[in-house]
Amino acid sequence: MSRRPWLRVESRLCAALLVWLSVSTGTAASAEQSADRMERGRYLIHAGGCISCHTADRPDAIPLAGGRRLETPFGVFYSPNLTPDPKTGLGGWTDADFNAALRHGRAPDGSPYYPVFPYPAYAGMSDRDVAAIAAWLRSLPPVDNPVPAHELPWYLGSRWVMLGWNLLFFDSRPFTADPARDTDWNRGAYLVRHLGHCGECHTPRNLLGARDDSRELAGNPDGPDNEKIPNIRQDRDGGIGRWSIEDLLLFLEMGMLPDGDFTGSSMSAVIDDNTSHLTADDRRAIAVYLQSLAPLDSPYSGAPARTAHFHHESRAGRHGSGQQSAVKVCRPQQEQEKWQECLQRTWFRWIAIGCSPACMWPSSTDPGCKHRSMHMASC
Ligand code: HEC
Ligand code: HEC
Repeated sequence: MSRRPWLRVESRLCAALLVWLSVSTGTAASAEQSADRMERGRYLIHAGGCISCHTADRPDAIPLAGGRRLETPFGVFYSPNLTPDPKTGLGGWTDADFNAALRHGRAPDGSPYYPVFPYPAYAGMSDRDVAAIAAWLRSLPPVDNPVPAHELPWYLGSRWVMLGWNLLFFDSRPFTADPARDTDWNRGAYLVRHLGHCGECHTPRNLLGARDDSRELAGNPDGPDNEKIPNIRQDRDGGIGRWSIEDLLLFLEMGMLPDGDFTGSSMSAVIDDNTSHLTADDRRAIAVYLQSLAPLDSPYSGAPARTAHFHHESRAGRHGSGQQSAVKVCRPQQEQEKWQECLQRTWFRWIAIGCSPACMWPSSTDPGCKHRSMHMASC
């Protein structure tokens, strides 16, 4: 008998084995790829600051289940539920839906979003980053959490009004690296302008609420929640021109200002939810980019002066009318000393235990440290 049938069987077995091998290594590779993608999605959700806006301002709020109240000069908005709940969240959203929302400001039915959702900044994100964010959001447990309707003036009642706004002000071009700059600068520009959307607060806006990018990060007298947002260009007096790169790195990691005070109001949420979670390389890239922003001749007149530092109780100075904002309240000497002492203890603990500084903050029962509640949850 010819051996051919055996050969055929053998070759079929070989082929099957090869197919099996390639399928199984393929699945292993794609499982690895998708694990990578998930991890990147989780990282980008932090870098994009999604959590602070899409989580209600209640101690028991479920992260990303929406319902945060956002006050703006154009009305009160409530952030939607981003979990994959089919009724009250984003159940069934495809990559294309996420891409349309984040990069073009459009809902699945084609209607435009209000730009309080910072899609004008996210428009510059890469396809890869949007897909990673989408994959990670889809992996969350669905949460049934209906959110209240926005409270808007009559002229903004219909979303379609925003079509005109988009036509006038929305630039949906993706980020392109500047070949004249190095990798750090380009990464920093991507993080600051797009993913981190720093300009949504720090860049002044025109009367119709569009960012004036010719004054990028030069301070904004009408920030979200009616806050006055400081100039963070390299102006030596009006901005952060006196900060060293180390000052910036420490600030982005833990919110500490060069004088040992801590930043407050909405910037502490940016540190908590965003910059403290970045890799050291990404924080350095942000610092490199910020240090490249030349001072502007006439700093935005409404931005708070920076001749003295504010502390948390002085937030009133940054809120309210322009008149109030000129009032600077400095930390009383005694409190300053208590704070310095507390800071020293913190440094010692950090050095002694060799743990991440973010996890070493004294507990809120420590009276000298009462301002500091950051990062406790993540420890
Ligand atoms: C400054 C606050 C803010 C930040 C930061 C923010 N969002 Fe939103 N987002 C909103 C608001 C408000 C809306 C609702 C807009 C509207 O109704 O037109 C929204 C809408 C959305 C929608 C559409 C949901 C729906 O039900 O149609 C998606 C998706 C979304 N955001 C994802 C994200 C992701 C991902 C990030 C981070 C990369 C993010 N958002 C960051 C405030 C924010
Ligand atoms: C939600 C609005 C908001 C966003 C987004 C935001 N900031 Fe801020 N930022 C503030 C406010 C408000 C302050 C002032 C805080 C205070 O009163 O201490 C501030 C302060 C700062 C300061 C200190 C300035 C000084 O002179 O004290 C720096 C530096 C800074 N922000 C950098 C950034 C960077 C980088 C990003 C993007 C990753 C960013 N901010 C995003 C609101 C914002």
